[in-house]
Amino acid sequence: MDKIRIRGGQTLNGVIRIGGAKNAALPLMAASLLSDEALVLSNVPHLADITTMANLLGQHGVLVSLDGQAGNGGHVGRVMSLTAGKITSTTAPYDLVRRMRASVLVLGPIVAREGVATVSLPGGCAIGTRPVDIHLSGLEALGAEIEVEAGYIRARAPKGLRGARYVFPKVSVGATENLLLAASLAKGETIFENAAREPEITDLCECLIAMGAKIDGVGTATLTVQGVDRLHGAEHSIMPDRIEAGTYAMAAAITGGTVELEGARLDHIEAAAAQLRKTGTTIESRNGGIFVSRANTDLLAVDVATDPYPGFPTDLQAQFLALMTTAKGASVITETIFENRFMHVPELQRMGADVTLQGSVAIVRGVDQLNGAPVMASDLRASASLVLAGLAAEGVTEVRRIYHLDRGYERLEEKLRLVGADIERVEDS
Ligand code: EPZ
Repeated sequence: MDKIRIRGGQTLNGVIRIGGAKNAALPLMAASLLSDEALVLSNVPHLADITTMANLLGQHGVLVSLDGQAGNGGHVGRVMSLTAGKITSTTAPYDLVRRMRASVLVLGPIVAREGVATVSLPGGCAIGTRPVDIHLSGLEALGAEIEVEAGYIRARAPKGLRGARYVFPKVSVGATENLLLAASLAKGETIFENAAREPEITDLCECLIAMGAKIDGVGTATLTVQGVDRLHGAEHSIMPDRIEAGTYAMAAAITGGTVELEGARLDHIEAAAAQLRKTGTTIESRNGGIFVSRANTDLLAVDVATDPYPGFPTDLQAQFLALMTTAKGASVITETIFENRFMHVPELQRMGADVTLQGSVAIVRGVDQLNGAPVMASDLRASASLVLAGLAAEGVTEVRRIYHLDRGYERLEEKLRLVGADIERVEDS
């Protein structure tokens, strides 16, 4: 197994190219199940989760090719073509679903198209219990009969799904995506209220509309879908990854550096940018990307509470917390989305961070200097926070279990090396 070794203390300077968004790509790939024609996605990131989704879709009968080359496992090419001419299996088995929770996104489209879908329950994960009850109650509202038995969700709608009014009891990104996919092929009108408004949902809506879906209210919490009988093929370019952009913006800030995030969109990370500005970091749109700089200014402590979009993203909480470990003053970080998303804290403490945890609140008192240490990644964003701390620390930090990082950051060590970091991937002995 590989690990990442960082010799801290280098200031980052230069340009980092931001890739396509993992969390947009996964539901977009699932959208291919809704049509028998090809869905062609460009700006596809090379990530382990994308391969997992391609393998799952392949198992359902979707023909997947990358840059015209058949096969669904390889990390080559940016343009992915997905054709679900025929759904050959309506079952998503445990072995594939357990690897990635987003696999549950095949449930809505398969039951909408085939009238039946059987999907393994995804189970919990490091950051919280993460139930799928909202996905299921929404599908029931659309007329599906749901049974949960022996670890599998079985959804049936032999006469097809029908439109309904559904109010999300809690804002859920995945449930909004699953239900949008399902409602696109339902009979009649569906009105979703309290829907998630993340940019990834807007990206999905735009792709579905290009495939012939009728959706109003895109970008708002009320989405109205007029179901259609069939969807056709389309081409769609995946939005840039706002969490990757936010992570590198914080990498620049923690090292007192200056970077340009090529291809990133500031309007997608406004809440995080607003907090970064309060830390003394400059962050603005420039040359079609984002310019970030904290040259010659102190890093100030700032409070943050996570919230659904347009609030501060939970997927940047760990990285912001790492940033605050070396700020001047104390910062209060409140996690409101997931109940157990502070797994990075004990590891950061091993590097000398002064953090007190009280339930869903972390109090971070800035220290003058972090010290490099061997640390262990627990989940994707926690891993990124350990890398950021390592960039700022004195001495060597080794981050283990980096398969978590590879799920969501493409060639992280290469991108950071290009802007001056002393970072390498080495084999763990
Ligand atoms: C998406 O997860 C992202 N994943 C997560 O990113 C992100 O942290 C999360 O949204 C919140 O922004 C993908 O897009 C693939 P939710 P998702 O449903 O859809 C509760 C990363 O690091 N809930 O919005 O699973 C849930 O437990 C990942 O890239 C229910 O109670 O998140 C949580 O507390 C990690 N019942 C809250 O809602 C349900 O049926 C929000 O979860 C569904 C969710």
